[in-house]
Parts: sequence; C-alpha cells; structure tokens
Amino acid sequence: MRLKMKIVVAGTGYVGLVTAVCLSTLGHNITCVDVDENKIKMLKEGKSPIFEPDLEEIMLKNKELITYTTDSKNAYRDADVIFIGVGTPEKKDGSANLKYVYTVAEEIGESLGKDAIIVVKSTVPIGTNDKVENILNKNKKDNIKIEVVSNPEFLAQGTAVRDTLHAQRIVLGVPSKHAENIMKQVYDGYGQPYVITDRASSEMIKYAANDFLALKISYINEIANLCELVGANIEDVARGMGMDSRIGDKFLNAGIGYGGSCFPKDTKALHWLANYYDYELKTIKAAIEVNANQKIKLLKKARKYYEDFEGLNVAVLGLAFKPNTDDLREAPSLYNIPILIDEGANIKAYDPIAEKNFRKIYPTEVTYCKSIGETIKNADICFIFTEWDFVKDMDISLFEKLMKKPIVIDGRNCFKLDKVQNYNIIYESIGRKSMIR
Ligand code: UGA
Repeated sequence: MRLKMKIVVAGTGYVGLVTAVCLSTLGHNITCVDVDENKIKMLKEGKSPIFEPDLEEIMLKNKELITYTTDSKNAYRDADVIFIGVGTPEKKDGSANLKYVYTVAEEIGESLGKDAIIVVKSTVPIGTNDKVENILNKNKKDNIKIEVVSNPEFLAQGTAVRDTLHAQRIVLGVPSKHAENIMKQVYDGYGQPYVITDRASSEMIKYAANDFLALKISYINEIANLCELVGANIEDVARGMGMDSRIGDKFLNAGIGYGGSCFPKDTKALHWLANYYDYELKTIKAAIEVNANQKIKLLKKARKYYEDFEGLNVAVLGLAFKPNTDDLREAPSLYNIPILIDEGANIKAYDPIAEKNFRKIYPTEVTYCKSIGETIKNADICFIFTEWDFVKDMDISLFEKLMKKPIVIDGRNCFKLDKVQNYNIIYESIGRKSMIR
C-alpha cells in the first residue's frame, strides 16, 4: 500500500506549484507555501497564477488534498518532506541568486518540530545543497534529524504537467539509503526510472542537461546561419542529422534563439561557476554569444527592405518566449520591440496569452489586437516571434490580401517554403532561402 505523506512545497512558481499539484495525484497531503499573498489568494479561489495546460483542472480535482498558505512556519512544523522550489534568478554578474533558497532553509530550520527530509528542487549551483544542510543544522532544534536531498526538475513550461507526470527520469542526490527510501515513497506511483547519485552530481546533472540543450540550439542556429550563406535548407539538414539516434531529433529547431527563465540563466550560471574555479567553459560561452546575436537577427533581415522603421506599420505575431506560455522572460519580442519603438514604428501585436504581461511593460506603445487579420491589416512588415499554433495554421493568403507590403520575417520557420511559394509575398525565415516574388 502507498504511504500518504504530509508534504510541503515552498514556492508556487512553475517548479513549486506544478510539483505540488502533480504530487497530489499520488494521494499525498500537500501544503503550498508562498510569501506572495495575492498568489495564495488566487490559488485558494482555485485559480492558477501561471498559465499552464491541465494545471487548474488537477488543482480543482484534488482540492481536498491541497492547501495554500502564507503561514510557512506553521506548515513546516509537522511536515514529513519539504520541497524547496523557490526562484534562483540571475544576478548582474551571471551567478545564481540564492537568497530565497537560503531564507526558506532558515525558516524551515527554525520551524521544524519533527525529523524531516528537505528536498532542493530549485536549480542551484553545485555545493548549494551542502550549504542548505548547514543552514538547517544551525537553525534547527538539537533533537531533530534532517536530511537534504537534491532532486532537480526537468519540466518545460507549456508542457509542465505532462513532463512531470511522465518524466523520463527522477534524479535524486541523496546523503543516505534512508533518504533514498523516503524519496521513493514520495514518488511511488509515478513509475519513472531513478538516477540515484550524490548531491553534487545531481546538482550538476541539472545544469549539464539544460546547458547541453542550449548548446544544441545555438549549434543548429549557427548551422542555419551558414545554410543561408551557402544555399542549404536547415530543416532538411536538421532532419538528416536528427535521424541519427546518437544525435536525436529534438531541440534541432533553428530560430531566433532560446529564451525563457532557464536556458539563458543556467548557461550564464554554469559559466560563472566554472570561472570561479578558474576554468573556462568555452562551449557554453560560445552558446551564449551565438544566442545573443540570434535574438536580433530578424531586424537585420528586415533592414534589407527598410533602413529604419520610422512611421512604418509593423505587425508582430507572438510575444511569449515560446508557445503555450504567457511568460516573457528573455523573449525575443522584448529584445526587438524596444528597438522598433525607439525608431518610431507603429506597432500592432497579437498574442492572446502573453498580451496581458506585455501590456504591463508597454501599456501604450503597442496596439494589442484580437486577431491576425486586425494585426497585419495595412502593415508594411510582419515579424513572427513565437510559433503559436494559431500562426502555423493561419491562412497564408491573408498576408497577401491584407498587408500594405506583404513582407513577412519569420523567426520560427512557421511555414513550409513550398507552401509559401504559392503566394505573392516576400518571406524571410531562418536557415532557408529568401522567398521574393
Ligand atoms: C527548459 C528545459 O527544456 C526543461 O527541461 C527544464 O526543466 C527547464 O528549462 C528548467 O530548467 O526549468 P523551458 O525553458 O520551459 O524548459 O522551455 P524549452 O521548451 O526548453 O525552450 C527553451 C527555449 O529554447 C525557448 O525559447 C524555445 O523557443 C527554444 N528552442 C527550443 C529552440 O529555439 N529550438 C528548439 O529546437 C527547442
């Protein structure tokens, strides 16, 4: 029989909330803790503060099993297992800011009333779990035993629930067999394979995995740039490479670079950490540089047609850093739109999900539209920053019919070239030949 545990999750961001809600499907009693009263209020009303498919449905279905509170001390007191899932944002020098992790560790130490396992789920530099253990030991009562487990998260935004419930592995950096057994009870029912290791290796697995994927993207983007110069087609190249199982066909989509809250931050953090140890991670340094150039590639392409954008009607399709999320962190839209605004363009944008967040940054500088047609009507140029399904599935003839000048600069290769060639449009994409009719 499965053991039901009292599990507390600190932090209700992507990692914390998704971990908590998914663990409720195993029948555990879950308490979600956050310092943000607004978030907790929303969660208590059954609403998720983040847009993530399936999350709200499970929250509602399992509402008897999940409680939400800002009273962290009370929640930690009698927990069997406490997950730390708070943010580790980037500091100015590229290193990870660990103050939220350490503050939670202090509070847990002060509050614990019984033995417990503390699980670090946040992405943290190698050695952080040991520091968390020291903080807990300094703050806890003498008779209480704690063990710290590193258990990094591999979910991606937009598919977070599916990635958690069907993960390819659960990585556990454990200090003892006892801690390993407890963690296996926590996850009993997921049926996912375990990688059991020490804490430093577990911390490293997370960074090494994320940075490898970022490197793969920067690599395919460089090959795409070369394809443009030599007249090759990146999609065929990526397909030909990806069919070799040693390479794999995932993360070979060329585009305007990786964004989001993870790859940009985690590449810089590992590079910083290596420097700290007097070692230069040359591959990761290159991935970061390639990505920075890639993000503004569309504007460079557009300057073939317009020297600057003053007074031009510019249409933008997609604002989020990738589809199925409202997240704008490190989104290419945020690198390009400010330049367009500075140059005096009239910008119309369409992204039904990320619009709300974009409005907070640019409330008046951009006109937000309710359809693709409204966005591209009378436009002198159209930029595609996100490969939402509504863009990929759109009627390409609309560009021809509605735009003043049908120039489409696509940063996500949303359309097949043999389809585009049936229309009277100028189409620039990544790693493929320009279509000029
Ligand atoms: C990433 C990892 O995929 C997760 O495994 C990890 O758990 C997560 O970071 C994290 O550390 O929390 P995420 O940032 O949500 O997840 O999104 P991805 O789907 O990995 O995409 C990241 C960026 O790479 C996006 O901007 C996307 O457009 C770009 N990308 C991805 C490409 O440009 N090409 C590709 O082929 C794939």
